[in-house]
Amino acid sequence: MSNSVGRLVVLVSGSGTNLQALLDAAVNPSYGARIVAVGADREGIEGLARAERASIPTFVERVKDHPSRQEWDETIARRIAVHEPDLVVCAGFMKILGAPTLDAFPVLNTHPALLPSFPGAHGVRDALAGGVRVTGCTVMLADAGVDTGPIVAQEAVRVFDGDDEERLHERIKTVEQGLLVDTVGRMVREGWTVTGRTVRIGN
Ligand code: GRF
Repeated sequence: MSNSVGRLVVLVSGSGTNLQALLDAAVNPSYGARIVAVGADREGIEGLARAERASIPTFVERVKDHPSRQEWDETIARRIAVHEPDLVVCAGFMKILGAPTLDAFPVLNTHPALLPSFPGAHGVRDALAGGVRVTGCTVMLADAGVDTGPIVAQEAVRVFDGDDEERLHERIKTVEQGLLVDTVGRMVREGWTVTGRTVRIGN
């Protein structure tokens, strides 16, 4: 992919600050990737509005509009495939993707804790409850589990006395956005290999 621009489909469920960081980075042609579509599992979120403001095509597939999860899995895989991505990026996407997507494309995910500690939907809350003094964020390849895929990059964030979930998450998100932008850019520009649980970017 080093001589071409990588095509990204980004999936969101919320405010889309990670998406915005990717949108901002991709303005520079030397970044090596552009966002060709943004998908979501719900309507009316700021993540979709950010894509619309940037004139990026969007699509929404809600699980509850499908007779089964399998149907949703197949449909969202088709909606993604239309855009021929080189990489799918889950940027705050709160659904586990199924085999139809995972078997067709490399999928990157981001999580606001230092995996394998504190996986799941409440990584920041769980880290605080666990009393850790250092937490952080993880960018990993997605697999069928909840935050169990091979780790690509991590960065630490200190926990301060008096932190609550919101304050800590905001500090993590600032670091997470930079880590995601850096990792996606290096992956599309340099390629990557996976050996067992070890991901290496570049040749
Ligand atoms: C991120 O911290 C992500 O890791 C977590 O939720 C947050 C999403 O933020 N799952 P945003 O939608 O990118 O602003």
